[in-house]
Amino acid sequence: MAEILLPPNSRFIKGEKIDASDGAKRKKTFKIYRWSPDTKDAKGNVKNPRFDEVTIDLDKCGPMVLDALLYIKNNIDPTLTLRRSCREGICGSCAMNIDGTNTLACTKAIDDVNGDVQVSPLPHMPVVKDLVPDLNHVYAQYTTIEPWLKTDSPAPSRERLQSADDADILNGHDGHGPAACILCFCCSTSCPSYWWNADRFLGPAILLQAYRWIADSRDDATGERLDALEDPFRLYRCHTIMNCTNTCPKGLNPAKAIAEIKKMMVARQ
Ligand code: SF4
Ligand code: SF4
Ligand code: FES
Repeated sequence: MAEILLPPNSRFIKGEKIDASDGAKRKKTFKIYRWSPDTKDAKGNVKNPRFDEVTIDLDKCGPMVLDALLYIKNNIDPTLTLRRSCREGICGSCAMNIDGTNTLACTKAIDDVNGDVQVSPLPHMPVVKDLVPDLNHVYAQYTTIEPWLKTDSPAPSRERLQSADDADILNGHDGHGPAACILCFCCSTSCPSYWWNADRFLGPAILLQAYRWIADSRDDATGERLDALEDPFRLYRCHTIMNCTNTCPKGLNPAKAIAEIKKMMVARQ
């Protein structure tokens, strides 16, 4: 089951209830995970995590969960901490767990959630503060797949071209190919194999990225890239559970990308 990775030796405590709805016609309560390594009790111990319940007037903020969180940060509690940048579903930084599903806060409509909206960090990841997961490990894994074009031929004077069909493999006929991945990690943090083996299994986000370079007709390092994945954990811990594909807020299919890599492994034997 998806779990928030609590700080060591901690347990949930009762959070605060703040009603800032001021007799509004359209109210909504947000239950927001709060924890900061800098918030300490009288004895100097870091305070336990909690869920604060904040009720707001929906007519005072935009329609998305990110709009509500920013309204709360800007008007009620400036210490609330979250990542965001584009607010258009293209940077991947506002990924979090909303109403039990990993998704992007900027593209998740408040009206899509019945009742209170529970918001917590991506599950099974260490937390830096509040809704901000620690992405150091996943980015270290990302570097291992060497996510750049490797070629044997001299650099041309202009860009390296590829056919429309070859480009389609990366972009997808419908724009949902592996090149559309925004590295939000909603998929990896929904994958049970990744929860339990993140130290050695690369997880769906990184494997989809690996496939993006393996499938690139301009890249000359396919054999070397497959060699690097030929490992019982790095690739083969995927058991086709499909959580990743079901969760991806961009509609991509990491499970299919992983299956394509496995097929290429078999084909070259
Ligand atoms: S298909 Fe593979 S990578 Fe995707 S959730 Fe399942 S085990 Fe994880
Ligand atoms: S495959 Fe989808 S869920 Fe996974 S990192 Fe890329 S955009 Fe995010
Ligand atoms: S803020 Fe960029 S994806 Fe949500």
